[in-house]
Amino acid sequence: MLYEHVIRPALFCLDAERAHGLTMSMMSAAQALGFGRLFMKSIPEDPVEVMGLKFPNRLGLAAGLDKNGEAVDAFGALGFGFIETGTVTPSAQPGNPKPRLFRLVSEQSIINRMGFNNHGAENLVKNVTGRRYKGILGINIGRNNTTPLEKAGDDYAACLRTVYDSADYVTVNVSCPNTPGLVKLQDAGSLKPLLTKILTERDTLAAEKGRKVPVAVKISPDLQKDALLAAADVIAECGADAVIATNTTTSRDSVSGNPLSSENGGLSGAALRDKSTEAIRILNGHLQKKIPIIGVGGVFSGADAKEKIEAGASLVEIFSSLIYRGPGVVKKILRELK
Ligand SMILES: Cc1cc2nc3c(=O)[nH]c(=O)nc-3n(C[C@H](O)[C@H](O)[C@H](O)COP(=O)(O)O)c2cc1C
Repeated sequence: MLYEHVIRPALFCLDAERAHGLTMSMMSAAQALGFGRLFMKSIPEDPVEVMGLKFPNRLGLAAGLDKNGEAVDAFGALGFGFIETGTVTPSAQPGNPKPRLFRLVSEQSIINRMGFNNHGAENLVKNVTGRRYKGILGINIGRNNTTPLEKAGDDYAACLRTVYDSADYVTVNVSCPNTPGLVKLQDAGSLKPLLTKILTERDTLAAEKGRKVPVAVKISPDLQKDALLAAADVIAECGADAVIATNTTTSRDSVSGNPLSSENGGLSGAALRDKSTEAIRILNGHLQKKIPIIGVGGVFSGADAKEKIEAGASLVEIFSSLIYRGPGVVKKILRELK
C-alpha cells in the first residue's frame, strides 16, 4: 500500500535511472545501518535443493538490480532465498550513454540498454565479503565491451577465478542484447568452446579449492526453437549445472502500441512473461530434468511463479515486479507459492 500509493509515485516522477540509483542508495544505507540484520531471520523457509545447493526458498532476485553486490543483506532481508548479483565484467566499465532505462508503465514493463555498467569483479568480491545474508549468493559474469568476441572466454574465465571463493553459484551471461555480439555466443558452434573453457577452469578451481561451484548459463528468449534446443544440448553436454531462462527480449510484439517501444534494448516485465514461460516449457520438454531450469521473466505474483514452475522451473527470479510492486512483492509471492 505504502509503496504503491506513496513511494512508487514519487520514484516514478524521476527519470528511471535516477530512481534506480536512489533505490540502490537507500538499500545500501539500510544495509550499512544494519536494518538488514533485523529481518534476517525472516527468510521464509520452504527449502529446495537445486544444483546441489540448499536454497531456503525458490524465489530469487534476478541479475542486474544489485550489479555490484552493494546491498545483498538489504535485498536478502526482503525474504529472497537467493540473490543473483552482477553482471560483472573483469574490468569496471561505464555502460552505454544515458538515457538507457525506460518504464513502459501501462504494460508494467521495462526497456533497458544499460550495457553492463559495473565496477568490476574485484569490487563485487569486496562488497559481498562479510555479508550476513544466509541465503544463496549467485554471481553473474560477462565480457567487457572492449574485449573482442573471440577472446570472450578469457573474460569469463578471469571473472570466474576472481569471484569463485565468494559465490555459491556463478552464471555465465551470454544473452544480454546490449553488449555488441554477445548473443552470438549462444550459437552452438561458439557456445561449445566457450563453455568447455569456462567449465575446465571451474574444474581446475574445484580441484584446487576442494569446492565445486555450480555454473548456470543464462539464455535469451529470442532464440528460435532449433537454436534453443541446440544451445540446451551444448549446455547439458558441457557439464553446466543449470540453465536460466530467460534474459530480456528484443521483440516488441507485446508492447507495439507504446511510444517507448521504439527504444533499443531488452524488454522485461509483464510483456516478457509468456515468451519466457514458453522457452522454459520447450527446454523442459527437451532436457528431461538432465539439468535444472531457473525461470525468470514477468513474474509478478504467486500464480506467475507457479506457471513457471509448472512449465519446468525449479527456481524463479524476479526483477521488474520489484520496481512496479515494491519490496512487499517478495513475501507476497512466497506466501502465494506455499
Ligand atoms: C535494468 C535492467 C538491468 C538488467 N541487467 C542484467 C544484467 O546485468 N545481467 C543479466 O543477466 N540480466 C540483466 N537483466 C535481466 C533480468 O535479470 C531478467 O532476466 C529480466 O529482467 C526478466 O525478468 P523480469 O521480467 O522479472 O524483469 C536486467 C534487467 C533490467 C530491467
